Amino acid sequence: MIQFTNVTKHFKKNWAVLENITFSIDRGEFVFVTGKSGAGKSTLLNHMYMKLLPTSGEVVVDSFSSCLARKKEIALLRRKVGMIFQEFLLLNDRNVYENIALPLRLAGLSEDEIRKRTLKILSYTSLSHKMQEQVTYLSSGEKQRICIARALVNDPLLILADEPTGNLDKENSDEIISLLQNIHGQGTAIVMATHNTDLVASRPFRRIHLENGRMPDTVAEH
Ligand SMILES: Nc1ncnc2c1ncn2[C@@H]1O[C@H](COP(=O)(O)OP(=O)(O)OP(=O)(O)O)[C@@H](O)[C@H]1O
Ligand SMILES: [Mg+2]
Repeated sequence: MIQFTNVTKHFKKNWAVLENITFSIDRGEFVFVTGKSGAGKSTLLNHMYMKLLPTSGEVVVDSFSSCLARKKEIALLRRKVGMIFQEFLLLNDRNVYENIALPLRLAGLSEDEIRKRTLKILSYTSLSHKMQEQVTYLSSGEKQRICIARALVNDPLLILADEPTGNLDKENSDEIISLLQNIHGQGTAIVMATHNTDLVASRPFRRIHLENGRMPDTVAEH
């Protein structure tokens, strides 16, 4: 479902943030992207929803190619991808329900359909009892569950999670990973960038490891 072929990304001349990256990820797979701070993990994930396009090489996600994609097609791709970030990026002045319903409003669904889907996801992420609360007052673990719910509400093919446990303690991190594992169990592909090596070591998923923007052969996949 995701294919990177010889992807190189330069922000400045003569300095590759990603260099000659080739790998593929299957439909429904769960993959960790690991590596030190600055290794290029976020840059790699940003190519998966075409926020960034490669300087050379090709990224294909679902049927969308970075070589051919136009703005309109990139917008279509993004409807199939849910994004989760370390900093949550929620609307703090709205309640939980409205934050989760937002992608459905943007997609132009009817009020009935929005309500049906949002209530289902609220229940799935154990947030039903918080739906009327304003996001500002919630804990970090709850905020990240809202982000997952918002990413999930459009029924995406793929969820990209960039350091989703970066602001959480161990207990909340484990809860978030369990929720992502559960979502993966329902058939959604998940790509999660993290530098939390303990967390990666304790899970059975494939790893794409970056060192200075490269995938060293020996540790690339196992
Ligand atoms: N838009 C940009 N313009 C210039 N340089 C950038 C840009 N985005 C990232 N970089 C550089 O690319 C390198 C890789 O950054 P990236 O954010 O992908 O790393 P990361 O592995 O996600 O790190 P962290 O674990 O700290 O999140 C860094 O040296 C960063 O400064
Ligand atoms: Mg990053």
